[in-house]
Amino acid sequence: MTLPEPKASVQRLFNNLSTPYACFVFSHYRGETRRDVAWIKPNPRELVLDLACGPGTLALELGRYGCRVYAVDLAEKMILLARRAARRRNNLGVHFAVADAERLPLPSNCFDLVTCGYSLANFPALPPVVAEMFRVTRPGGRVAILEAVAPEDAGQRTVLNRLEQLRSAGAPARLLCSTDLRALFERASFLLLDGQVRERRRRLDDWLSLGNFDRAAGSCRQLRQQILETAGDDSAGLHLERCNGRWFFYAKVACLLWQKQSTSSRGKASKEKAHQKTASLGWRVSKGSLSRRHVSRSDPPAQQA
Ligand SMILES: C[S@@+](CC[C@H](N)C(=O)[O-])C[C@H]1O[C@@H](n2cnc3c(N)ncnc32)[C@H](O)[C@@H]1O
Repeated sequence: MTLPEPKASVQRLFNNLSTPYACFVFSHYRGETRRDVAWIKPNPRELVLDLACGPGTLALELGRYGCRVYAVDLAEKMILLARRAARRRNNLGVHFAVADAERLPLPSNCFDLVTCGYSLANFPALPPVVAEMFRVTRPGGRVAILEAVAPEDAGQRTVLNRLEQLRSAGAPARLLCSTDLRALFERASFLLLDGQVRERRRRLDDWLSLGNFDRAAGSCRQLRQQILETAGDDSAGLHLERCNGRWFFYAKVACLLWQKQSTSSRGKASKEKAHQKTASLGWRVSKGSLSRRHVSRSDPPAQQA
């Protein structure tokens, strides 16, 4: 997939980070992911789309609930790792493909549940992604967002986003505050079913380990120093604390559950169109639903099972 900047830089960032990211979330965040998915309360047999799925963090857990899960990500290497993890867990009800969340090759009004975890900060433009979420969700269906958010205080938010930007080495990484995040979905006509901001204690060095650094240049060490300098007046709103020689901070995570109101009929697509769109992912629409189609040898490598 050839992409314009800055999206190409996001794709490069997550292709580069795919292996450490997958190792990290599967070893450290399994319990947290289980609790997050339990909060969503997915129903067995629901048709679910996980957007910007990474190595399958949420998608594989949703599969354990018996949902029929389709998951997409911009980074091919994430998709390869996700497929490998699905095979290892014998989780065959979960299907992965490369796609851009801003232009989903998927039918409208189709999914019972759309999920998106810890990814909105990396989208260069959010309104088109939220519009796509709205389009593909069936009327009455739900959208679950788990997202790191910045403090409501504008000064702290600016400092935190400067640090986030240094960690991603120029690729888009911008945290919204919870109020702005909610407003974005309200503007797209979603109805809020449940909204909470939870504080999660993170190890600073774990957060830095997922940075896009030129290690030889010492940029990770410099960023660590800059973060610690915010501890005195908490200018980044991280509530830094030292415990047994290690630094921790408190990440704010917005957990938002939205509903597309059932009166909505925006974005209807003909069955024919839906079929054409979905075939490019190696999936096909049958009886208004999705299923895996046979993937032929002529398909591009990134889209093979
Ligand atoms: C921080 S990771 C989160 C992955 C996963 N959802 C999780 O909870 O672990 C962000 C993911 O967003 C993906 N991403 C960024 N922009 C995207 C886009 N336009 N379309 C699809 N995926 C995108 C990245 O490739 C990356 O895998």
